[in-house]
Amino acid sequence: MSDVTHEGAEAADAVGAGPLVLLHGFPFDASMWDDVVELLGERDVPTLAADAPGFGASDVPDGEPSLDVAADALLAVLDDLGLERVVLAGLSMGGYIAMAFAARHGSRLAGLALLDTKAGTDTEAALANRYRVAEAAERGEGAEAVAGMIDVLLGETTRANEPDVVERHRSWLAEAPDAGIAWGQLAMAARPSRFEVLEDLEVPALVVRGSEDALSTQADAEAMVHALLAHDGDAELVVIPGAGHMTATEDPEAVADALETFWRRCTGT
Ligand code: MLT
Repeated sequence: MSDVTHEGAEAADAVGAGPLVLLHGFPFDASMWDDVVELLGERDVPTLAADAPGFGASDVPDGEPSLDVAADALLAVLDDLGLERVVLAGLSMGGYIAMAFAARHGSRLAGLALLDTKAGTDTEAALANRYRVAEAAERGEGAEAVAGMIDVLLGETTRANEPDVVERHRSWLAEAPDAGIAWGQLAMAARPSRFEVLEDLEVPALVVRGSEDALSTQADAEAMVHALLAHDGDAELVVIPGAGHMTATEDPEAVADALETFWRRCTGT
């Protein structure tokens, strides 16, 4: 979690506090957010997209893979930039990291946006698959092991109508780094349930889901909203029609709209 986009860092600097921090999904990197960052930049929303450990320009840390380590690394980035509070948005694995951050450093949040993610733990079958993919990556065969994700990452509307988007994800998957794949799968496998964290959250929350997301279901999204509303919470669910798991790349306009509205509400701007 060491690298931030240059434009984002400048924009964050201009505001001083309260930018929108974007955390990417597995097995991509911060550039996954480029379209959304560009749209938000045109609307004067300061953004900062960070690489998770093992992806983009960020190295795999020593020690047991854990999303808590990713959350602490993000805290170090915020401290370096002098950002006291931010609106944090994470997609899928980025959402798991955002929830780990909320558990450990909640006082640094002005808002939490969770896109195409879930608060529960993995099934036995999902865990077995994570260990299989991690072992393949450790053998240097990570890209082969994640290639098939193309069929579940993108919604059927995108797969039918957007060949360029499909191709872009196919080539990202082919370039996914072995070290990041192995670290990410083991860190995700070790994550705890985050429902209690959502119940205790003291800042506004936004849950976003693509209507065709095959990996994070409507029930997963509703369960997060239910937890967020438990103690007089402030939470909203936005469903993006015709998008799958990768809402930010399948429909960047809709995601930028939802995040801009949320960021303005959280920061009062
Ligand atoms: C992601 O998109 O980040 C992953 O699909 C998350 C996961 O494997 O649970």
